[in-house]
Amino acid sequence: MLVFRACRWIQYQSRGQPLDRVFLWRVLFIMAACSISNTNAQIRYSVPEEMKKGSLIGNIAHDLGLNVQRLRSGQARIVSGDSTEYVELKTDKGILVVKERIDREQLCAETTPCSFTFEIILDNPMELHHVTVEILDVNDHSPTFPKDEINLEISESATNGARFLLGSADDPDVGVNALKNYIMSTNNNFILKQHSRPDGVKYAEMVLQKPLDREQHPRLSLILTAVDGGNPQRSGNMKIEVTVLDANDNAPVFNQSVYKATIAENTPKGTYITTVKASDADSGMYSLISYSFANLKGNINEVFEIDETTGVITLTGVLDFEKSKKYEIGIEAKDQGGLGNSAKVIVDLTDVNDNAPVISVMSFSSSVSEDAPLGTTIAIFSVKDLDAGENGHVDCMVDRKNQFKLQSSLRNYYTLVTDAALDRERVAEYNITITAIDSGSPALSTQKTLNLKVSDVNDNPPRFQESVYTTFVTENNPPGLSIFTLSARDDDWNQNARISYLLDETTVRGSPASSFISVNADSGVIHALRSFDYEQMKSVHVCVKAQDGGSPPLSTNVTLDIIIKDENDNAPQVLYPVQTGASVVAEIVPRAAEVGYLVTKVVAVDVDSGQNAWLSYKLQKTTHRALFEVGLQNGEIRTVRQVTDKDVVKQKREGVKSLRGRGSCH
Ligand SMILES: *[C@@H]1O[C@H](CO)[C@@H](O)[C@H](O)[C@H]1NC(C)=O
Ligand SMILES: *[C@@H]1O[C@H](CO)[C@@H](O)[C@H](O)[C@H]1NC(C)=O
Repeated sequence: MLVFRACRWIQYQSRGQPLDRVFLWRVLFIMAACSISNTNAQIRYSVPEEMKKGSLIGNIAHDLGLNVQRLRSGQARIVSGDSTEYVELKTDKGILVVKERIDREQLCAETTPCSFTFEIILDNPMELHHVTVEILDVNDHSPTFPKDEINLEISESATNGARFLLGSADDPDVGVNALKNYIMSTNNNFILKQHSRPDGVKYAEMVLQKPLDREQHPRLSLILTAVDGGNPQRSGNMKIEVTVLDANDNAPVFNQSVYKATIAENTPKGTYITTVKASDADSGMYSLISYSFANLKGNINEVFEIDETTGVITLTGVLDFEKSKKYEIGIEAKDQGGLGNSAKVIVDLTDVNDNAPVISVMSFSSSVSEDAPLGTTIAIFSVKDLDAGENGHVDCMVDRKNQFKLQSSLRNYYTLVTDAALDRERVAEYNITITAIDSGSPALSTQKTLNLKVSDVNDNPPRFQESVYTTFVTENNPPGLSIFTLSARDDDWNQNARISYLLDETTVRGSPASSFISVNADSGVIHALRSFDYEQMKSVHVCVKAQDGGSPPLSTNVTLDIIIKDENDNAPQVLYPVQTGASVVAEIVPRAAEVGYLVTKVVAVDVDSGQNAWLSYKLQKTTHRALFEVGLQNGEIRTVRQVTDKDVVKQKREGVKSLRGRGSCH
């Protein structure tokens, strides 16, 4: 009977789950128990969980070998046991049915096998039977993850092999219904690895197989599925949201490798030049770019400035085309992670006419002889203009065009030469202004004035106002008397104009001229060396030479006529009547002489000349009643009345010469 019961159980069991070793062991155990005591029979049932209320657990009457009658009479009932709320004994049918829904997971959790035991007792006679109900697992749970979604932040710099724990799903079912496997949605980057903890729980992790690239896929959405081994299989999902964290794996990149700008050299400070721009595919601070100059050779830092954040390049210094026509500035863009890129900015300068020509005199003789031939070189100079092109093209000109000209045989080199005869006596000094003017717009010019002195050549002889001078000397002059001053002029300069006066050695009346006069060589003063006697010499002609100090000297002759003027230095001499000794000359006048009777005529001479030789006569001494008179001019003595008796026989008379001086101008 027991065997039978056991076979029934086994049969029941074999309907549900496959047999296993544990199960067989249990069957043997039950068979042994049954054989010990009738009153302590053990009955075991296996039922799946979650059966409906009232579902049959087992035909207990049949399995105990009792009939329904006995159950009723024995008042069979369930006593003392755990979980008795789940079963009900239907004594009228002799069966055990499900009283409450049985949830294996609630009842046993992970304990297997899951069973509960109770006793059925009958009275009259008393029988006690153990009944064990094993609750068989049904795959009524899907694996579940603690969260529907997990968020992972993974740096794109993560290397292959990096592991990311995904945790475990839970499936309360047991055995084959328990969690079996994890599956991950297909993706390029991760593979799934499954592990078991020491307590047997399976957990999943994903392993990086191919590096992430935030710039391509900043986010990844994966699904982790946990499946159990039930049939039908149940599963649970969890979303894995992967946010790819940026790694500085992208360097900044300039959008141009060369930037160009052109500016005029006089551009003021602060002027915008250009903007450089780099971009970085990374995000966050790895995409923050700072700009700087790379090569700081020369003075680029003093001339230009780059805004670290905007890449705007401005001018901060002074540009000079003449010093530097072009700037090549290396620029760098760096992100915060230290990656960089470089490019170049080429700033071309354009020339502005900001340089005036410069005249450099290379050779200049500040003095030129007035007899220099045409074409004599005065100066050699060069002109230079630092500007470029037309701004640096220079033309040169000279004022005083008719006197000087410029010659140029070599570009920017000029020779200043004379273009006309010079004459120091006319123009002794020239201020020659050279003008250099460039072709810029507006043009700039420079002037240079050369002060040229014309040096003297003895090309002018001394010059007298007259060719003949006349001077008058009154005779009886004291020797050494200064009688005249000769003065000549010489247009030359200095020594060439220093005049010496020299008396020409001629003879005057057989005597050398130098015995008559002397000439002071320096002053030209002429002195008489002797006292002249007009009565002997009426004039002296000498020749004087004025000679300058040049080499050779030049001279001019001049004639000096010295006219000797008479002085009244000779008394008249009575020629008639001839007087001898002290005797008196007697004339006879007849008594009867008429009035105007010519008594006699006094004749006198004077060796002087002119008025000094003009004679007049008068009576010096007469008696009180004048009988005679003398002709003032002619010396004729005539009676002025009748001779009377009262008149003395002898009358005295005297002739007097009148010495009247002549004016010196006559
Ligand atoms: C030349 O220039 C100098 C200096 O300016 C001046 O003293 C002189 O008088 C000038 N000479 C002539 C001939 O103009
Ligand atoms: C000046 O006179 C001297 C002598 O009579 C003569 O030899 C000389 O040639 C004259 N000079 C001039 C410039 O006439």
